[in-house]
Amino acid sequence: MKKQQSPSIITVATTLLLLLLSISTVEGARRKTYGVVGSDSGSSNLKLFVFGDSYVDTGNFIHSQSYEPPYGITFPGHPDGRFSDGRVLTDFLASYLKIDSPIPNASRNASNIQNGINFAYGGTGVFDTHINGPNLTAQINTFDQLIQQNIFTKTDLQSSYALVNSGANDYTRHIQNGSFFDIPKFTSTLVNQMATDLKRFQSLGVGKVAVTLLQPVGCLPALTSIDLHMSCIDLLNKVSENHNQLLNDAIKQLNTEAAGKTSFVTLDLYNAFLSSIDTLKKARDGNSSLMNPLEECCVANVGHECGDVDDKGEKQYRVCENPNVAFFWDIVHPTQNGWNAIFPLLQSSIGQLIQQ
Ligand SMILES: *[C@@H]1O[C@H](CO)[C@@H](O)[C@H](O)[C@H]1NC(C)=O
Ligand SMILES: *[C@@H]1O[C@H](CO)[C@@H](O)[C@H](O)[C@H]1NC(C)=O
Ligand SMILES: *[C@@H]1O[C@H](CO)[C@@H](O)[C@H](O)[C@H]1NC(C)=O
Ligand SMILES: *[C@@H]1O[C@H](CO)[C@@H](O)[C@H](O)[C@H]1NC(C)=O
Ligand SMILES: *[C@@H]1O[C@H](CO)[C@@H](O)[C@H](O)[C@H]1NC(C)=O
Repeated sequence: MKKQQSPSIITVATTLLLLLLSISTVEGARRKTYGVVGSDSGSSNLKLFVFGDSYVDTGNFIHSQSYEPPYGITFPGHPDGRFSDGRVLTDFLASYLKIDSPIPNASRNASNIQNGINFAYGGTGVFDTHINGPNLTAQINTFDQLIQQNIFTKTDLQSSYALVNSGANDYTRHIQNGSFFDIPKFTSTLVNQMATDLKRFQSLGVGKVAVTLLQPVGCLPALTSIDLHMSCIDLLNKVSENHNQLLNDAIKQLNTEAAGKTSFVTLDLYNAFLSSIDTLKKARDGNSSLMNPLEECCVANVGHECGDVDDKGEKQYRVCENPNVAFFWDIVHPTQNGWNAIFPLLQSSIGQLIQQ
């Protein structure tokens, strides 16, 4: 293994480190159920089970900024455990499936799990990336235990969906652990573990599984800040590309093995982010009141995060005038407007899953 200590690699490592730090700290919270756009959940057994990190968590990380202002200002209007100003990917998918967003595991009881359960926990990864949060395996273990307790029927599970978004925090943690020269090797270890985890949905009898590809990490404001949010960092996006190629291959293999009993699709966050960002950039050229999509709406003071207040209660951040024209909410997470732009680009993959 050659160590190519060029300055650019060091810069990349530093920025990736920053990114990872921010992902593992900017995570978190939970709360109550919310009526999103969909309805008529009563007429079907369709349920949604969600696994992964803050991109899909709707309220499991109670002690995080997702339960502090200004998170949740757009929806539901107060901090509610989402790492955004409003709805996140989970909510858009639930709405598309015409069910209410599934209850976070942290607030589930015997009578509020008719739409499924959200096990996703901000800051977590495939491996252990978070002090308290359950890794992907542990999230699936909890689901497995509930199935063993016959809380869901076989028929329920066969007509149900699993949404899995995990892996970004693993890269952050890997770099924090001091390794940045062996990322390709790490990617292969990571994807192998993901495949092992995903395979369990087949033995558990879940009919439909949607797995997100990794977003272009080089476009996150945490990293684009190094050139004043002018452009994405292509070198870092290569990490996502390589990850996604291996993950796509693994999913193909899983589909072959599952022989139609469980269908897996990937949701291409990579191209959906790039394309949404590009569209917003072009729109901005003709309308200066629009925001740079590579710039976060909630801008924290140096050394702080969105949501921080000091000892005197002074806010250590400022929120942009109109979150509805921003793409990123904080330095890692899209706004509701961002997810709203991304989601239609995932619909053809979701459509494939629905038809299975
Ligand atoms: C379950 O939680 C819901 C809120 O999600 C609440 O309205 C309901 O009273 C709870 N039921 C029980 C049996 O605790
Ligand atoms: C996930 O967490 C469980 C429980 O803490 C642990 O036993 C397991 O080794 C972890 N799995 C991975 C892949 O890191
Ligand atoms: C889900 O909630 C139960 C009960 O509060 C808890 O024991 C379990 O660890 C949680 N699982 C996950 C994956 O967060
Ligand atoms: C980072 O190091 C810790 C402690 O050795 C280990 O448990 C963890 O799995 C490592 N994480 C990654 C992503 O390499
Ligand atoms: C510019 O964008 C703002 C915010 O979306 C919108 O209200 C306004 O109508 C746009 N102006 C033009 C000229 O398109």
